[in-house]
Amino acid sequence: MPINSLLASSGHQLLLVDDSPMNLDTLLATLGDSYDLRVAIDGQAALDLIAGGYRPDLILLDIMLPGMDGYDVCRILKADEKTSNIPIIFLTALDTDEDEAKGLVLGAVDYISKPFNPATVLCRVKTHLELKHHRDHLQVLVDAKTHELTEAYKDLKQVHTQMLQQEKMASIGQLAAGVAHEINNPTGFIGSNLNSLQKYIGKLNEGIAFMEQILKSVDDPEMAAQLKEMKRKLKFDFIQEDIDDLITESKEGIERIATIVRNLKSFSRAEDDTLKPTDLQNCLEGSLSVAWNEIKYKAKVEKNYQELPPVNCLPQQLSQVFVNLMVNAAQAIEDQGVITINTCHEKDWAVVEIGDNGSGIPPENLERIFEAFYTTKDVGKGTGLGLSICHDIIQKHQGTITVASKMGEGTRFTIKLPITAGELRATG
Ligand SMILES: Nc1ncnc2c1ncn2[C@@H]1O[C@H](COP(=O)(O)OP(=O)(O)OP(=O)(O)O)[C@@H](O)[C@H]1O
Ligand SMILES: [Mg+2]
Repeated sequence: MPINSLLASSGHQLLLVDDSPMNLDTLLATLGDSYDLRVAIDGQAALDLIAGGYRPDLILLDIMLPGMDGYDVCRILKADEKTSNIPIIFLTALDTDEDEAKGLVLGAVDYISKPFNPATVLCRVKTHLELKHHRDHLQVLVDAKTHELTEAYKDLKQVHTQMLQQEKMASIGQLAAGVAHEINNPTGFIGSNLNSLQKYIGKLNEGIAFMEQILKSVDDPEMAAQLKEMKRKLKFDFIQEDIDDLITESKEGIERIATIVRNLKSFSRAEDDTLKPTDLQNCLEGSLSVAWNEIKYKAKVEKNYQELPPVNCLPQQLSQVFVNLMVNAAQAIEDQGVITINTCHEKDWAVVEIGDNGSGIPPENLERIFEAFYTTKDVGKGTGLGLSICHDIIQKHQGTITVASKMGEGTRFTIKLPITAGELRATG
């Protein structure tokens, strides 16, 4: 029988590494009926077979081989994680305790001295194959459990993040609703008083014009001169002209306050998960008024809004994204800077860019900024949740959020949203 023949058997693959034809013949006769056997007649040949992709279930390895000895073969196989779990049984004429100990220390599972009893070899091979089978099975179970636990941990972290997000949103919402409520009342009566005042001033002016007319018809030059002097002294003409402008400006101011109050109210209102066609520019304006307090002393805001069709989305959640990005932009500016807000339309996508010329983000931090709890801000200043929330919300909208940044030059976040999204993507 050729010594490197492949024999049909139980399906387990065994590699015999031995240079003695007599030993090989005995092993082939002992094991050939039960296992698929391959033979290597020196260490290098064994390593070559394995390097070519052959993965035996067990190796019977002689120690004294031409060239590299069995210990070295064992050392090389144990050092490589692809082959380290193949059980190796040393089969050798070296039979001192030291030889045996050396082989076992190197990671062999067993050591059989020559001349060997074929029944012993058969029994040990069977035992070690069974052990390997159980070990592999256990490893599969451990891997599956580890995977399960990792997934459960991820879910837990996600739920925790969402709870923090909800808490944060709820407290911002409460604050916004409280402020809106407090401002709403005085804004209302100032607005209505201004309207009345405008009407009254109109009537007063009419009355004054009428009285002047009557005085003119009396034809008393002295009284006319006194009237003229009084009007000059009190800057009457200027006041009459300016009073109208003052009231108009004040009414515009009140209108702006009313818009802010409306935005704050809509920001705080609980939102269900129903997509609504939304004017993103309105949404950006609302977010800007919420973030304005953070921005106004730090940055000039440059807007370039290109026409956008209504986008199917959850407007409050997108407002939350825009506010987070605007606040981050303002916080990245140390002294005075510029925040740019652009919108444009690319095929089926609405694109919103929020940029700043602040500190920029170091390249090594770029891949971490969307992680929950990643922050470079002082304790108490940043929770590190802002961008992770943005990422989740944009993902939910089937959109993308990307960042480009250069140290010392600034940062630009780009959001792309499908205009006609039909449904939300489940996250978590
Ligand atoms: N526009 C930006 N310019 C420079 N760095 C930024 C910018 N936006 C985000 N970062 C960096 O990314 C980190 C994470 O941002 P994120 O909004 O998630 O958290 P935060 O702002 O630190 O805290 P939070 O938003 O929870 O108050 C920030 O700490 C900051 O280092
Ligand atoms: Mg932030």
